[in-house]
Amino acid sequence: MNPSTKDGPLADRALLLVNIGQLLTLRSPSGKPGPRRGAELGELGVIKDGAVLCAGEKIVSACKTKDALRDPWIRKNRKKIVEIDCAGQVVLPGFVDSHTHPVFVAPRLVDFEKRITGATYEQIAEAGGGIRSSLEGVRKAGMKLLVDHVLNALQEMAEQGTTTVEAKSGYGLTVEAEIKSLTAIQKAAANWPGTVVPTLLGAHVVPREFQGRPQEYVELVCKQMIPRVAKRKLAQFVDVFTDRGAFTANDTEKIFEAAKNHGLGVRAHICQLTETALQPLLCFSVASFDHMDYVSEADIKRLARLETVATLVPGANYFLGLEKFPPARKLIDAGVAVALATDYNPGSSPTASMPFVLSLACTHLKMSPSEAIAAATINGAWSLRLQERKGSIEPGKDADLAVFDVADYRETAYWVASNRCAFAILSGTVATSRPD
Ligand code: NIG
Ligand code: FE
Repeated sequence: MNPSTKDGPLADRALLLVNIGQLLTLRSPSGKPGPRRGAELGELGVIKDGAVLCAGEKIVSACKTKDALRDPWIRKNRKKIVEIDCAGQVVLPGFVDSHTHPVFVAPRLVDFEKRITGATYEQIAEAGGGIRSSLEGVRKAGMKLLVDHVLNALQEMAEQGTTTVEAKSGYGLTVEAEIKSLTAIQKAAANWPGTVVPTLLGAHVVPREFQGRPQEYVELVCKQMIPRVAKRKLAQFVDVFTDRGAFTANDTEKIFEAAKNHGLGVRAHICQLTETALQPLLCFSVASFDHMDYVSEADIKRLARLETVATLVPGANYFLGLEKFPPARKLIDAGVAVALATDYNPGSSPTASMPFVLSLACTHLKMSPSEAIAAATINGAWSLRLQERKGSIEPGKDADLAVFDVADYRETAYWVASNRCAFAILSGTVATSRPD
């Protein structure tokens, strides 16, 4: 190995993790192209007594510690390299949290209490709560407040091993407030060493001022929000909440078409409350369909042939107190690429914790710990189309690692509501504690 670039040797910026009890590389065992599916989802590429060399922002090598220490370049530069002893720890790729809504200003405690007394998510929304009740706060908020909220969320995520975050707007729902939300994401991302993928969710719900005129709002999203956001390069994806009480499949097609015309990728919240046929949307190369609680058998078969990922967010089912959870086993066993994400948001899933999501995936979705880890790393990367850079510990990929204070990787999903993440490395930067 010789981690030198045109900028010269990188030993001064190199980091070597050694004596790692279990190093989960997530290398594909078969080298098959595409996201992990079926039995391969559970293959973690574990190296016992492993070592990872990072230089600058990239991974240079992942191997046994004894092989790393024999390497001529490492031997020559050992004094300059920062070495971290990870004995008794597990190292995995940093989690890719591929579905979050961090731009809001207040928790929704009234909704929380109403649900405890029996109201459903939809009943609360119809009675004036839900997504619409988060709009006023965001519309009124100054930039600094929004940036602080997003940055706090990103830091809380990193403390639990997350190094890449997809971040949606969606609580502004005017052209200005959506642009303000995406600008807040951009500013927070500039102050965080991890990677943020911004998504425009202008089609979250129809805001009150467009009540009874949903087509006019869809037109605003297509003709104003998407073009202006694309022009300012404020988002990589466009998302739509396609469900009862939000947008129809037909609206979604129009919005996807506009996104495509402006060079943006597409994803959707879908089949969360009711079944929606996915087929009319499949021609848009959808990066991810998220929630998927009510997906049909026929669509499961169709998805198994595509690179479209099914992103499951069981934190929402848990927090809404639902009995039904997404059909992870059916999806995985049929060969669909499944990812896991927090869905961090004030209404349905106020958690920044990927380890908690892993735990739910095991206890409620009946995924194995190894399947859950792959779904939260390499398949999350696929859902953001970042598979070349993220999601596994392989030479040339970004130096994004999560170090856990556990002896066995299954413990990352086992300890409930307990943060065993010792620290994360984000683009080669070791994040120890929160900055003041
Ligand atoms: O993913 N379903 C739509 N959006 C969010 C909920 C947002 C909210 O309730 O504020 C979700 O569950
Ligand atoms: Fe969501």
